[in-house]
Amino acid sequence: MNLEDTHLDVLIKAQKAQGITDRDLVKLAEITVPDLNHLRAGRREPTALERVARTLSLRPDSVIALANGAWNPPAVALPATVLKFTTPFADMAVNHYLVWDPKSLKAVAFDAGTDADPLFAALERHKLKLDKILLTHAHGDHVLELDRIREKTKSAAFAPEAEPVEGCQPVENGKRFKIGALTITAHTVPGHSQGGTVYEIQGLDNPLAVVGDVIFAGSVGGIRSRYRPALEAIRTAVLTLPPETILLPGHGPLTTVGHELAHNPFFP
Ligand SMILES: [Fe+2]
Repeated sequence: MNLEDTHLDVLIKAQKAQGITDRDLVKLAEITVPDLNHLRAGRREPTALERVARTLSLRPDSVIALANGAWNPPAVALPATVLKFTTPFADMAVNHYLVWDPKSLKAVAFDAGTDADPLFAALERHKLKLDKILLTHAHGDHVLELDRIREKTKSAAFAPEAEPVEGCQPVENGKRFKIGALTITAHTVPGHSQGGTVYEIQGLDNPLAVVGDVIFAGSVGGIRSRYRPALEAIRTAVLTLPPETILLPGHGPLTTVGHELAHNPFFP
């Protein structure tokens, strides 16, 4: 699966979120306007890339690796009781997930995606009872099929306290859910959205965290408010988890805490 963001997406996200104009960027990075235009057109000139990355407080080596196609997400083996679904939304794709406890066969859906049929098929195939739907945030691509899943499975749904969704119970920071042998802990990480919530999952062979659009392999979801506190919140809530923790993002491929700590351009 391709990365969600190219190096140009990363540069633009960082610039926009910090409110830096092109004029300031050129001045601060000590490059020329044509240099910037060439970068935007896809030319991978390392000195200009490095200067722009540094000015935007990004890791230059990671931006250059992304530009050169040398940034690869890690090979991740999901535990047998975790499924990833990727469904289309306009010209993008969005991920949602199903995780279950192998003994009790109680399952949890994380986000609802744009087509729940593969999820319904998996519930039937593995004889699972959907116990809860937990939303990472309320953006349209993540909740489109929520009502259909609720109607069909009658399971309880939960949404971040700061992003109320009709018919969902609120999830506050630190809230815990017990599903069979699984323990799920919610961490509120505002930035991409006001109540963006990461769900840490313990109880399977490998620790997991469903991260929504808080962090992607090689990038972050576009940060819409308070850039530096948002990055700090990601660092505190996600990047301090054990390095082997598998991250399940709302877009793009799977990754791990260790891999993002070592390579994500937003965390120098
Ligand atoms: Fe989003």
